[in-house]
Amino acid sequence: MSNLVLVGTQWGDEGKGKIVDILTESADIVVRFQGGNNAGHTLVVGDEKFVFHLIPSGILHDGKVSVIGNGVVVDPAVLIEEIDSLKARGYLKEDAAFAVSAGAHVIMPYHKAVDKAREELRSPENKIGTTQRGIGPAYEDKANRQGIRIEDLIDPEAFKEKLTRNLKERNLYLTKVLNAEPLDFDSIYADYTKYAETIKKFTIDSQNFIADKINENKNILLEGAQGALLDIDHGTYPYVTSSNTVASNACTGAGIGPKDINYVLGIVKAYTTRVGGGPFVSELSDDDGKYMQRVGAEFGATTGRERRCGWLDTVQLKYTAAINGLDGLALTKLDVLSGMKKIKVCTAYKYKGELTTRFNASAKVLADCTPVYEEVDGFDEDISQVKEFDKLPENAKLYIKRIEELLGVEVVMVSVGPKRSQIITLKDPFSL
Ligand code: GDP
Ligand code: IMO
Ligand code: MG
Repeated sequence: MSNLVLVGTQWGDEGKGKIVDILTESADIVVRFQGGNNAGHTLVVGDEKFVFHLIPSGILHDGKVSVIGNGVVVDPAVLIEEIDSLKARGYLKEDAAFAVSAGAHVIMPYHKAVDKAREELRSPENKIGTTQRGIGPAYEDKANRQGIRIEDLIDPEAFKEKLTRNLKERNLYLTKVLNAEPLDFDSIYADYTKYAETIKKFTIDSQNFIADKINENKNILLEGAQGALLDIDHGTYPYVTSSNTVASNACTGAGIGPKDINYVLGIVKAYTTRVGGGPFVSELSDDDGKYMQRVGAEFGATTGRERRCGWLDTVQLKYTAAINGLDGLALTKLDVLSGMKKIKVCTAYKYKGELTTRFNASAKVLADCTPVYEEVDGFDEDISQVKEFDKLPENAKLYIKRIEELLGVEVVMVSVGPKRSQIITLKDPFSL
């Protein structure tokens, strides 16, 4: 048995979905443990491209079970769209290959309306730039104990009662406070009771299901969404998402004890990107940034927004390695840096005239930090077909070695292109 947690180490979009897809080969169960359809995980298998917002990225493998854990917030319309699209493409042949926790919370139309109205009301400098998928308001209802869970959604009486109560309150808030339109009970009730019919057969008591699998010595892959710097506690608050994205939340969001986690794999993009507002010390507005944006095709998979780009920042990565307890790294998108004469790595910040290598996640502090770079020589070769570490150009190897040295964490996988086949595996994290 080996249970592995996979997390993003930056601000999301590190290429987690691709690595989950690859590692699922060695897993029996794949569990998403937090977030919702704010995530966008892109997989390329052969010539086929898939984008998953909710369903775990292990779903393309036969004989595995993909589970949406209790820690996730679920937009049922999006879930059904993903199920239907997978089936139409010849996947998810057995309904038993996918399950959703009865304890996961449901994203309601009023969550989306509140998310949108709040963003509109914020001044330009205060906008978080949320995905407007209702994530924050849904977690808010979970915390204040008025959330609707999947178990309520599939129980028409409980659903009616909770929807009546919640909508009354949310409509007052929408109209009187946010100056937005009220929502109509009948149409929400009709839509959601229809969704419930489809979702019912996939609903499970996920905590006991996962506990049984642990007892059966199965391998579980816990898939994180977003990245450590978007964590509500440890990230660049308030420019964060509304869940804990760090590895320890895999335990809460799936129902697993910390002693049952054997390995924590951090996904690191070879440079840094961010979508939405908030500080970004190593951000670039020059040609190098444009190069990363263009060659890395850095557009959000969920909202289509341009991702902000910058150099790799080992000040922040040392912090995210520590708060996640990383055992190893998967370095992605290394191919994107090919063609750059010099590659910079941010190894320190200058803050109030002093040099520091310690990351302080406070958005206020970060806004006053400037990057201090170390420069390494770039490489020109096309590495997209390289299958072994030793065949990488010398300067690419030196870059990887330098990252390992600065972070004190080993790189176990290197991704050199979007396809499943474009991967160099130095060590299989499931066997470590
Ligand atoms: P996630 O949210 O962490 O799963 O990452 P996204 O899927 O949002 O963004 C990563 C993007 O980079 C996707 O379009 C992937 O297909 C692509 N990608 C993943 N790994 C690589 C890689 O090694 N090289 C290149 N060029 N693209 C990659
Ligand atoms: P994956 O899993 C990148 C960002 C949003 C915004 C902030 C809050 O694909 O890596 P929210 O809608 O969650 O309230 O928005 O978080 N954000 C992401 N950025 N990748 C993601 O997911 C993200 N999920 C949320 O852009 O800045
Ligand atoms: Mg993404």
